[in-house]
Amino acid sequence: MTNEIKHHIGEKAQQYIQRDSKVISPSYTRDYPFVMSHGKGSEVWDVDGNRYLDMTTGIAVNATGHSHPRVVQAIKDQADKFIHMAGTDFYYQVQIELGEKLAEIAPFKEQARVFLANSGTEAVEGALKLARYYTKRPQIIGFLRSFHGRTMGSLAVTSSKTVQRGGYFPMMPGVTHIPYPDPYRPLLNMDGYDDYGERVVDYLEQVIFQTIVPPGEVAAVLVEPLQGEGGYVVPTPGFFPALRDLCDRNGILLIADEVQTGMGRTGKWWGIENFGVEPDILTSAKGIASGMPLGAIIARDSIMREWEPGSHGNTFGGNPISCAAALATIELLGEGGMIANAREVGQHMLDALEEMMPRHPSMGVVRGIGMFIGVELIKDHETKEPAKYLRNDVVHHAFDRGMLMLGAGTNTLRFMPALNMTKDMADEGLKIFDDALHQAEIEHGVSMIAK
Ligand SMILES: Cc1ncc(COP(=O)(O)O)c(C=O)c1O
Repeated sequence: MTNEIKHHIGEKAQQYIQRDSKVISPSYTRDYPFVMSHGKGSEVWDVDGNRYLDMTTGIAVNATGHSHPRVVQAIKDQADKFIHMAGTDFYYQVQIELGEKLAEIAPFKEQARVFLANSGTEAVEGALKLARYYTKRPQIIGFLRSFHGRTMGSLAVTSSKTVQRGGYFPMMPGVTHIPYPDPYRPLLNMDGYDDYGERVVDYLEQVIFQTIVPPGEVAAVLVEPLQGEGGYVVPTPGFFPALRDLCDRNGILLIADEVQTGMGRTGKWWGIENFGVEPDILTSAKGIASGMPLGAIIARDSIMREWEPGSHGNTFGGNPISCAAALATIELLGEGGMIANAREVGQHMLDALEEMMPRHPSMGVVRGIGMFIGVELIKDHETKEPAKYLRNDVVHHAFDRGMLMLGAGTNTLRFMPALNMTKDMADEGLKIFDDALHQAEIEHGVSMIAK
């Protein structure tokens, strides 16, 4: 169904797409033919002059909107001074200042220490290395449907789609996956439990630690505070406290992968702060520098200070221009009020989507915190059968109506706007979504399904 939709493509866009098809890797997953010319805040324009509302922010990256003037100025100022100097071998002011800022906003009571990388996957890769190095243990616990990146260490824990892993085996050994505490689609029975997250943690302790992996050999549990690519899933309230307790009792490190949930997206600096526990290590990237490539590993000082010189490093990590962009981003998010806006406008969007549910039989569940929002589309409320093709068509119809959206997991649509998106623009986007979904529901014949 999804591939049958024919978009009107402008002449210039058509030409670029043709050129792209000859030289750019076919592994990319372009769902619709948007060829960007420029952007400002939450609006973007294509090369043929069409304007779109951006609910994707380049996969949750442009936290402060496109080309925020303060970020652009910081980039220009730093580029005038110097562009690169290898933070592994030399010192420079912006790297130190960014380390101080990240340590300040880190969700630890203990002093934090920072390693700067280039991307999310590199941050995760380094966090896994740090956990093994510090604990001298080999095993890692991960979660089904998680996404942590595509390099060989993080890919071994990534499990959101087989297409991401197929053809690359063998994976890094030492990873065991357990279900993520998704209360809408529990994989384990709930016998005797009120909170599915506690059920999952007991499964780890009572089954996995008794039968497959001795806890004394586990270095870390790597977990997304809210699951991103896997479907924008919010864990149950009991999950993180139980997991933290299990880790503490067994000397296991808790790594929060905040690449997608961090930097204010959930209305707090870090996603895990919504659940009242502290991680031992966290990873950040995406929104950290408003679009400049940067990743970070932030760890308790007592853990990261064990890394001896030479045990981990890189060439481009902590690039000075990226650091300058990150410093401007952090100021705008915090003192600039963008995190507060994400909380407020995000809640408004969540409420509006909930209100839409009675009008849309395919809306199975609306979930999220702040501006981390997902809607699962289903064929039937009793079976909860995923409506994958309907979801894909909503993305296409939204594009035709002037809005960029992306899916997550099999059948979830995600809203990940810039954290400074205004309420008016959010309402414009919600209206487009409402109409696009209505159109797809009629085409798929689901409008008559009773709830
Ligand atoms: C939670 C999480 N971790 C890691 C990554 C990998 O980040 P990158 O694509 O920058 O390597 C992603 C990317 O989507 C992510 O969502």
